[in-house]
Amino acid sequence: MMILSLNTQTVLAGLAIGLLVYYVIKRMRYRLPPGPWCIPLVGHYKVYTAADIHKKFYEISKVYGPVVRLSFGPIPVIVLNDIEVVLEAMVKKKADFAGRPKIKSGEVFSGGSKDIALSNYSPTWKCHRRVAGKALRYYLQGDLLEQMIQDNMNKFLDEMAREKDSFAFKDYVDLMVFHQLYTICFGEKRPVDDEEVKAILQLDTELNDYLAKGFLEDIIPYMERIYPTRQWQMFVNKMKQFFNFIREKFIQHKDTFDTGVRRDFIDSMLIARQEAENEGDEAVLEKLDDAYLIHTVADIFLAGVDTTRFTMDWFVYFMTRFPDIQSKCQEEIDREVGSERPSMKHRNKLHFLEACMFETMRLGGVVGIGVPHMSICDSQIGGYDIPKSTMVIINHWGLHHDPKYWKDPETFDPYRYLDENGEMKPAKPDSWLPFSAGRRVCLGEAVAKPEILLMCANLLQRFDIRLPDGVKPNLEYHILGFGVELPSEYKIVVQERIGN
Ligand code: HEM
Repeated sequence: MMILSLNTQTVLAGLAIGLLVYYVIKRMRYRLPPGPWCIPLVGHYKVYTAADIHKKFYEISKVYGPVVRLSFGPIPVIVLNDIEVVLEAMVKKKADFAGRPKIKSGEVFSGGSKDIALSNYSPTWKCHRRVAGKALRYYLQGDLLEQMIQDNMNKFLDEMAREKDSFAFKDYVDLMVFHQLYTICFGEKRPVDDEEVKAILQLDTELNDYLAKGFLEDIIPYMERIYPTRQWQMFVNKMKQFFNFIREKFIQHKDTFDTGVRRDFIDSMLIARQEAENEGDEAVLEKLDDAYLIHTVADIFLAGVDTTRFTMDWFVYFMTRFPDIQSKCQEEIDREVGSERPSMKHRNKLHFLEACMFETMRLGGVVGIGVPHMSICDSQIGGYDIPKSTMVIINHWGLHHDPKYWKDPETFDPYRYLDENGEMKPAKPDSWLPFSAGRRVCLGEAVAKPEILLMCANLLQRFDIRLPDGVKPNLEYHILGFGVELPSEYKIVVQERIGN
């Protein structure tokens, strides 16, 4: 018995040493990026649990350089803090870093790799993204987008005009953007106080809160099976509710689908799938079953709504803090748009407004540390080796506050983007990257930019917006999670501008 137990111990100890030696030798093969020391398996606990994780990344990069190696629990993570290494990884290295890490919450979100945003790089993903991109491009044709924005905004601007006292702009913009995406995705125009839209907004807010707090299950995946946390159970439940809602809409669309009519994004997806069918593209057909299309709509909804509504909230926040800049935007709108409704044809004339939108996207950090990538093969960044299957994070906040590229990075300064004639410079500034770059660049960038610009133009054409009397124009914000910063709650007073 004694001999048996000794043998077992020896075997176990031998195994452990063997594994350690294997791990060390494997690591020695690579010239990994530098990073601070941490307790093995626990990792950089103070970093990955910090609300201001984006700032922690940035501070660490000041010591260790633009490519930093950290550990989230047992998971190795590479953080990129400078635009040069970001472009090297995401653009020059083509698909090397276009993967997505397998994270438990991501698996729930993507329905087990059936979406675009969180599924790993694969032939199915490429085909899925191609079809969804085509469907979105359809949507940008003609005046569909501007019509939808105008109809939708007018309802909300009329409501805002009726406010006699100060009010929270957030309450309006959240619903406004939700109604907008509702029309894009489902083709429905609903009344301002529609209960279904409010319920979905509420669900989205709750999902954001869960995601922002993070899950133990993402660090220790087997927790999910052994002893799932309450937070996890609630999240899974809410995600199910959300997918059921999208599924219902999708089925309604499929049942009433008419090939010749494109009512909305769901129809666009159905048409794109049908075109592939007509072209005999077997690869598309095999892959893009209904579950994939349902998850695409969910992606567009979740990826598109929050980024847009948070950006709008920041825009108004800055306009109230800098009334001179607001007036300059209005002068430009009056000059270029006059009493017409702002539309796509005015888009390239509203240079100052566009510069304000760019600056809002930089300083109002709604993307924080973005969506994590993963290396799909052994590769290099900045002269360091990055082994296959390593998580890679872009610190967008770091890029947007880097004094190497931005003079006075904390200052709201739209002039950075303008040339001596007051026109947008042809090239965007090097370190401006709210939509990311490369294979995983935001799929909605071409919709988001005109959508946000037209919303800002409609808003400032109709109203002077200011803070309530006696409120000091401070610049305060809070952190939602994942480095996403939002303006602290604020109220505004609006006054209709004469002639509009
Ligand atoms: C201000 C508005 C927006 C910002 C700042 C923004 C930013 C981003 C960022 C940073 C990513 C991650 C890119 C990466 O992995 O490196 C992303 C992905 C994505 N965005 Fe946006 N986004 C915005 C609006 C939208 C809209 C309106 C839509 C849809 C209509 C959309 C759809 C998507 C999708 C589908 C992905 C996943 C792409 C992929 O993984 O291949 N986004 N976005």
